[in-house]
Amino acid sequence: MAAGHSPGSHSESPLIQLKSVSHTFSTATGPLPVLDGLEISIAEGQFTAVVGPSGCGKSTLTRLIAGLMKPDTGEVWLHGEKVVSPRSTVGMAFQNPVLLEWRSILKNVMLPLEIVPNKLSVKEREERARYLLALVGLEGFEEKRPSELSGGMRQRASLCRSLVHKPDVLILDEPFGALDAFTREDLWQTMHTLREEEPFTALLITHDLRESIFLADEVVVLSGRPAKSQYVLSVDMPGKRTLDDLYTPQASDMLATLREQIKIAQGHGKAGGHSA
Ligand SMILES: Nc1ncnc2c1ncn2[C@@H]1O[C@H](COP(=O)(O)OP(=O)(O)OP(=O)(O)O)[C@@H](O)[C@H]1O
Ligand SMILES: [Mg+2]
Repeated sequence: MAAGHSPGSHSESPLIQLKSVSHTFSTATGPLPVLDGLEISIAEGQFTAVVGPSGCGKSTLTRLIAGLMKPDTGEVWLHGEKVVSPRSTVGMAFQNPVLLEWRSILKNVMLPLEIVPNKLSVKEREERARYLLALVGLEGFEEKRPSELSGGMRQRASLCRSLVHKPDVLILDEPFGALDAFTREDLWQTMHTLREEEPFTALLITHDLRESIFLADEVVVLSGRPAKSQYVLSVDMPGKRTLDDLYTPQASDMLATLREQIKIAQGHGKAGGHSA
């Protein structure tokens, strides 16, 4: 069954930890508080989804973890170190996979290995990229250009590229948001395959509540802006998940809980809340 508990309650040393993170952007119309004392803990190997109202600060959160920006107050810790600059040990994938058209799919996937220091030979880099492409069903497409692939295939290649250098953490900012429903469900299953073969720690930003419970171990609901961690749902679906698991009474309960929490975050729920 779904279980809520207080945010940031892991006792063991987490891989990712946000400690009381607050951030305000300066804009032409004045200060815009975006994050307010945000606490999030993610254990090694855990898959965490973050949901929350549009504009509440989810992408800002991903930039903070990747070290692409610093919070005004509070700290972000990754692997026992305070994040103070961009981290190459973070893999990222976004809604629009930015693949380089002048490189083959294989060469696109190999790109991080050319940038992030590693001891692999060119042959080993190629083998690693080919292995990942085969895992996501793109064997035979290695020499194609990005424009020759469908949107779903490009997103598969983008996932391979974000994992090729074995990052400490994979950050996914609505990676399946632009895909049609069937392709999206295919990609969800691909994520499970990747995770079985290549265990990683992941933070997924999504607007799709079904996606959050199908993929994640824990779903964090952010409040409206300025965002706090409003609710944490532990997804209790033991064993290998299938799409049928989304139609069980337990899944319905979890989705109802999340929907209620989103309403609260939008300021429409029973318990009040913040407006986005
Ligand atoms: N560099 C910036 N300067 C000023 N304001 C910014 C900047 N980046 C983001 N914002 C504002 O901060 C708020 C949070 O932005 P963010 O992109 O983190 O939201 P989000 O939760 O990812 O939204 P969405 O669900 O629409 O993707 C928004 O109001 C946005 O306009
Ligand atoms: Mg965003």
